[in-house]
Amino acid sequence: MRSETLKLLRRKSFKAQQNVYDVTPAVRKQSPRVSLSSYGISPHALEIVIDGPAVTPTTTKALLDAGFNVNVERSPARIFDDSEFEAVGASLVPEASWVDAPYDHIIVGLKELPEDSFALRHTHVQFAHCFKNQGGWQDVLSRFSLGGGTLLDLEFLTDDSGRRVAAFGYHAGYAGAALAIEAWAWQLNNPPSKPLPGVKPYANQSLLLDDVRSKMAEGEAKAGHKPRVLVIGALGRCGRGAVDLCRQAGVPEDSILKWDMAETAKGGPFGEIVESDIFVNCIYLSSPIPPFLDAESLASSNRNLSVVCDVGCDTTNPHNPIPIYTENSTFSSPTLPAKVPNGPPLTVISIDHLPSLLPREASEAFSQALMPSLLQLKDRSSSKVWQQAEQLYKEKVLTLPETLRTAVATVTGTQGAVGTVKYVDR
Ligand SMILES: NC(=O)c1ccc[n+]([C@@H]2O[C@H](COP(=O)([O-])OP(=O)(O)OC[C@H]3O[C@@H](n4cnc5c(N)ncnc54)[C@H](O)[C@@H]3O)[C@@H](O)[C@H]2O)c1
Repeated sequence: MRSETLKLLRRKSFKAQQNVYDVTPAVRKQSPRVSLSSYGISPHALEIVIDGPAVTPTTTKALLDAGFNVNVERSPARIFDDSEFEAVGASLVPEASWVDAPYDHIIVGLKELPEDSFALRHTHVQFAHCFKNQGGWQDVLSRFSLGGGTLLDLEFLTDDSGRRVAAFGYHAGYAGAALAIEAWAWQLNNPPSKPLPGVKPYANQSLLLDDVRSKMAEGEAKAGHKPRVLVIGALGRCGRGAVDLCRQAGVPEDSILKWDMAETAKGGPFGEIVESDIFVNCIYLSSPIPPFLDAESLASSNRNLSVVCDVGCDTTNPHNPIPIYTENSTFSSPTLPAKVPNGPPLTVISIDHLPSLLPREASEAFSQALMPSLLQLKDRSSSKVWQQAEQLYKEKVLTLPETLRTAVATVTGTQGAVGTVKYVDR
């Protein structure tokens, strides 16, 4: 082995893995995970985006019933209490203790691991945000390659038709449409100097729905009608969520315009958008398209549009089809003002973590969608979804500079015993 590689490996020391109590405070503070082995699952908690795990109490029970061992890290912050996991029979383990799990455990989490430099030896199932050359991707990816670990990235788990196995879209659209209706009603009853107040995650969906219904009634009292809502990307995950929210809130069916590829084929900008009260964009932007609205269409005397919710949130994409805002809004400040030459004020909702408004339901839906694949972890070598994910990981590792990919740790035995890890050149 080249001395350069050896130095790198030493620097990215594995000492944190020798004993659970050797782990640095930084590692200890990370969000909790679940660890499963082929006879048990040990994943990192899906705390990232959602404040809820990729494995919920319901899906934990399904995994236990299927013969997995499931170790769930304790967490005071997770949307599901530790006791809910205990009640279904999971083993509760200390926060951040996955680093000491035997190497044949699979570490399942939602969010990326906190930044650190020690190399990773386990197989990790999580969102890692390093396969598309994102900032710092080499640092993230090389932790796996240098440690002999494997990254099976949740973002790229696809079924036979190439569709993602699990995603958070439905609840993003649902939450986005909910906030859009609330913003519409608020703006009718308040001056532009008083933007929609901050929102907090809801304990459950029916509480959100109650709020939307009562606020929509306030808007209706002022406007004399319920809002007309145009959803583009209505056939996708986010779009279906947005349409369902509108229906459940009581927007009449003929006031919910459901557009997808066929309706936008002629190319924007579209008069129907500015003539609606609310526009919810739910498209997956895969190639440049003409804008859906622009300064000219917004200047139309037919404009009723007062709220745009861009669930797609291609905020920094140069081809963002909603080129009327440049930053993301947040739960504490959900709306941003957009420039309009005349007519009613216009605000934009561009929150990029909308499912967090409904952490319980969003986690449960994600976890249920992931479940059939998690069950296949028992026999990963014959599972197409995991084989594809592993192949993709290997291909991405090959795009690393040689010094970050050539050393691979072959792990034998269990963790903790010095000398059970040997590094081999590839
Ligand atoms: N803001 C958030 O918190 C949040 C959360 C989850 C997903 N998203 C984003 O939302 C977007 C949609 O995700 P999804 O899971 O619903 O995708 P999806 O693939 O399930 O659905 C996208 C839909 O958009 C349609 N579409 C694509 N281009 C179109 C066009 N030019 N005109 C009309 N329709 C078009 C497709 O036909 C499809 O029906 C993605 O960009 C995703 O990253 C945002």
